[in-house]
Amino acid sequence: MSGFVVVGTQWGDEGKGKIVDLLTERVDIVARYGGGPNAGHTICVGARRFALHHVPSGILRDNVLCVIGNGVVIEPGSLLKEIDDLREAGVRVEENLRISDRAHLILPYHRGRDIAREEAARNGRIGTTRLGVGPTYESKAGRYGLRVADLGDESGLPDKVGALARMARGDDLHELPAEWDPDPAAVVEQLLVDGARLRPFVTDTSRLLNERLDEGAVVLCEGAQGTMLDLDHGTYPFVTSSSSTAGGACTGLGISPIRVDGVLGVLKAYSTRVGEGPFPTEQDNEAGRRIRERGREFGSTTGRPRRCGWFDALVARYSVMINQVECLALTLFDVLDDFDEIPICAAYEHGGRRIDFLPADPAVLKACRPVYELMPGWKEDTSTARRFEDLPGRARDYMRRLEEAVGCEIGIISTSPQRDGTIVRAGSRVEHWLPMRQAIRARI
Ligand code: IMO
Ligand code: MG
Repeated sequence: MSGFVVVGTQWGDEGKGKIVDLLTERVDIVARYGGGPNAGHTICVGARRFALHHVPSGILRDNVLCVIGNGVVIEPGSLLKEIDDLREAGVRVEENLRISDRAHLILPYHRGRDIAREEAARNGRIGTTRLGVGPTYESKAGRYGLRVADLGDESGLPDKVGALARMARGDDLHELPAEWDPDPAAVVEQLLVDGARLRPFVTDTSRLLNERLDEGAVVLCEGAQGTMLDLDHGTYPFVTSSSSTAGGACTGLGISPIRVDGVLGVLKAYSTRVGEGPFPTEQDNEAGRRIRERGREFGSTTGRPRRCGWFDALVARYSVMINQVECLALTLFDVLDDFDEIPICAAYEHGGRRIDFLPADPAVLKACRPVYELMPGWKEDTSTARRFEDLPGRARDYMRRLEEAVGCEIGIISTSPQRDGTIVRAGSRVEHWLPMRQAIRARI
């Protein structure tokens, strides 16, 4: 094994950070391939909680190189703050973090555009994180974006920033909020300061990754967000603006599909979604509130309470197909410990017909009614289980039913936020992947 991808299979917040942190023990490099500060990955080590937004979740391991790939969009100020906080906590950031010179930059205008558009949309809101992520991908696709490499071009910056400030306004938005519409000269000045601080981290990361892969390094490609938020394959238009599926790893890092030989999907034992958009199994009721409380389902980026609901096998099956997931990590399992009955959505009903696939039209998806199967709860604490056999029989039955409904094996079960609250199932595919570390200490 040389490259493998860890991908979210739902609407983000599946607990990817913990799984990546766990697998990182066995890899040489962790590389983020998409998204930006809209991602929030929480990792618990002992009593410490780290909330990461740009920096890959592998950074907490001393001997692993972390890469922010070209597919990521970077807000320089908040990335620098993350770097400072990590350094203060004693993490080896200087040695272990590299940033692509081809990654695009989020400027205040992008954020202004995101906010102005959300405010103007009222009923048609996406419910974005308002961090400027969507508009930055717009300027990337529109070919007027600013990249990390531009930070070195002192004389060219004023024109580029000026052009971007004009473009960000667009034809439909005549005014950005004053706070997010600063004088371009001031923005240039700040960019030069931030650029100087980021410079030691900046490199051609595609070249770095390909060279290390040639030497036999194992690279974990870390996905942010989830399959249902993917620009192409998610619940459009209620999606983020990047390719969060496994395919995005190749374009977002500059590595060939031939380099990727495994995909692990991270799957929550229930469903959540932040922001607007259809969510057939949503429980806007007492059950949903209990899930939210037990799972601490509040956004790590925006603090927003997440919408909570039951497990949706159609979503998971679709993700397994789109990403060719070969093995699943089931997370937040202990959140369900306390329920008498646990529904699983096995199909939808629409217009009197039963359907077992995800419709493309958001209005149709919104009108779908879930058809539930009821599984008996196990009503026991699973957070201390360390082997599959330690789990209550009904919990194992629930899991087997999920595997059957989704069509993919569950290789990892996370039963608490801590590193040791994890079961790796004997004989699962992930067990074969894990000992693959080549222990090539990347020469930086
Ligand atoms: P992680 O990596 C959950 C959602 C937003 C919104 C939509 C578009 O922590 O799983 P954007 O600001 O990206 O334009 O917002 O996407 N969203 C996420 N939801 N987890 C994330 O990342 C998300 N990143 C974006 O809530 O609905
Ligand atoms: Mg999140």
